[in-house]
Amino acid sequence: MTRFTRRDVGILLGATATTALSGNIAHARRVPPLPDRRFPKSFKWGCATAAYQIEGAADADGRGKTNWDVFSHTPGKTANGDTGDVANDSYHLYKEDAKLLTNLGVDMYRMSLAWSRIFPEGRGTPNPKGVDYYKRVTDHLLELGITPYVTMFHWDLPAALPGGWQNRDTAAAFADYAGYMAGQLGDRVRHFMTTNEIRCYTDLGHKIGIHAPGLKLSDKDANQVRHHGTLAHGLAMQAMRAKLPSTTQIGLAENPTLYVPVIETPEHIEAARKATRDVNAPFLTAVMEGKYIDSYLESEGANAPTVMAGDMKAIGSPVDFVGLNIYNPFYARADDSKAGYKILQQPGSAPRMASPWLYVGPEALYWGPRHVNDLWKPKAIFISENGCSAEDNLADGRIDDTDRVMFLRNYLGQLHRAVEEGVPVAGYFLWSLMDNFEWADGYGKRFGIHYVDFKTQQRTPKLSAMWYKELIARDQLV
Ligand code: FCB
Repeated sequence: MTRFTRRDVGILLGATATTALSGNIAHARRVPPLPDRRFPKSFKWGCATAAYQIEGAADADGRGKTNWDVFSHTPGKTANGDTGDVANDSYHLYKEDAKLLTNLGVDMYRMSLAWSRIFPEGRGTPNPKGVDYYKRVTDHLLELGITPYVTMFHWDLPAALPGGWQNRDTAAAFADYAGYMAGQLGDRVRHFMTTNEIRCYTDLGHKIGIHAPGLKLSDKDANQVRHHGTLAHGLAMQAMRAKLPSTTQIGLAENPTLYVPVIETPEHIEAARKATRDVNAPFLTAVMEGKYIDSYLESEGANAPTVMAGDMKAIGSPVDFVGLNIYNPFYARADDSKAGYKILQQPGSAPRMASPWLYVGPEALYWGPRHVNDLWKPKAIFISENGCSAEDNLADGRIDDTDRVMFLRNYLGQLHRAVEEGVPVAGYFLWSLMDNFEWADGYGKRFGIHYVDFKTQQRTPKLSAMWYKELIARDQLV
């Protein structure tokens, strides 16, 4: 019969072990096994990154400047004046990155293309060196048995495009580029996403002003920018469909504001679902319904965007899957207002991770896909991003990021609940494979499961990488 130390007993039985603190504790074996929280064998695991955040090589091989080059080089716009000039140097080190993926055992990798490597001026003559680069990267992934999921636009807009997203022509230029790259990569890449987080590249850049190009436009003008951003997705869907085999999957990666019901009772669930549909009206709701819903048009009144013939048809192009980037929770409760809900602010004591905006709310990873499924019944859902920033102190060559493991384990527990209930979530991409340029927060906010020393470009797996590897090997929450 095994004899356990006091420490072992604590580990085996937790706080209830008081009766077994000494002597033989055969009954410890009667502790029920860990719950068997397995994901279906068909469930796919991946990691995500984006071009401007990792590639660096800002001047290599004819790459054109982007809005983020301009913004990050403008004093005061990013933490410590950090830029993506070098970043993780993945333009050169992509094979090192692929080794990290192989070691984790992921099925898939979500990456984005830098539009200005292909069309340095945003449109015109394509740059063969840029096209070849992405052929090399995707071929390398495929050789390793990793399925690439390619996002056409993750915020790095060619700076040469006049007026940027304020100009409707930018949406058409995007569709031309996306269609062109679909044609170039479509013989090897079978999964594409048009755009990443329309709300972020429109509102954060043009209404709130904390991302490139740093504008604070009027509501009317900002709504027009939103329309151009959503239209860009729609026109790209059409252009890409025309170039790709019908079996190739095309979707988008959105970060809808997803409301968690404050109490899981029918009236609060209904309120949270309705808030989700209303608040995302200019973005995912328009994509899924092919129209701007009445409550949005009413609330915006004279500030509503100008819409041209054919726009809503393009925006409503059927998608093969919806990608959801899910981080922080939002809360709504039922009330007897006309809308039927009230949106709540986070209390001051709500727990957060290292980025001030990143409140912890694992239920978002249950209610997000569940609302999207209940509202629109998409063919498939991917979690196209989920993860967190943490302080990540390197000690004795290790980063024991127990806080990140806590975050991920709890969020994935909620995703498991959704999958068990039959919500059609096909896969999960962890943000991020490695620390990278976190936009206006620069390199100070680390989201990776690999630690990056930005002086030496050394990548070191954190505890969370080891945890994710175990989970993937078992298809089970560990
Ligand atoms: C998302 C972005 C991604 C990264 C994470 C932390 O909004 O899509 O590029 O910055 O947040």
